[in-house]
Amino acid sequence: MHETLPGRCTLVQLTVKGDERGSLVAIEQLRDAPFDIARVYYLYGTIPGVTRGLHAHRELRQLVVALAGSCTMLLDDGAARTSIRLGDPATGLLLPPLVWHEMSDFSPDCVLMVLADAAYDEADYIRDYGEFLAAAGSAG
Ligand code: TYD
Repeated sequence: MHETLPGRCTLVQLTVKGDERGSLVAIEQLRDAPFDIARVYYLYGTIPGVTRGLHAHRELRQLVVALAGSCTMLLDDGAARTSIRLGDPATGLLLPPLVWHEMSDFSPDCVLMVLADAAYDEADYIRDYGEFLAAAGSAG
């Protein structure tokens, strides 16, 4: 995949162990996820019309996989913004710090799994877009 994404975001192709019974994907820390996995969370049952996210992280690194269904992910590094559709359980989006992201247009069956390199910490969130632009500007 050669799509240029903002903020050093990358799409990673996960290895599918497929056989006649179906498919299996394994994600190991420091192999398939380029960090130690400290937390797993997932979003599902998102109400139609809802936009989630609307924040950036100061330090957190995450790997996002649509296990079922699909949603749109807007990525903004303060200089460029791009929207991509996540809908392949064998593709992960690596989401580094200081990328403003918004998820929308969830299909009713969407299960969005996120692997993160740290425990939940509200202090790591930047929820104000102006503050994000200032942080992204001084970082880059
Ligand atoms: P929120 O940050 O609003 O989700 P999103 O950014 O995806 O729209 O999180 C919803 C609630 O869940 C909020 O009360 C914080 C809590 N939460 C945790 O307790 N642990 C977690 O790992 C995450 C991601 C959220």
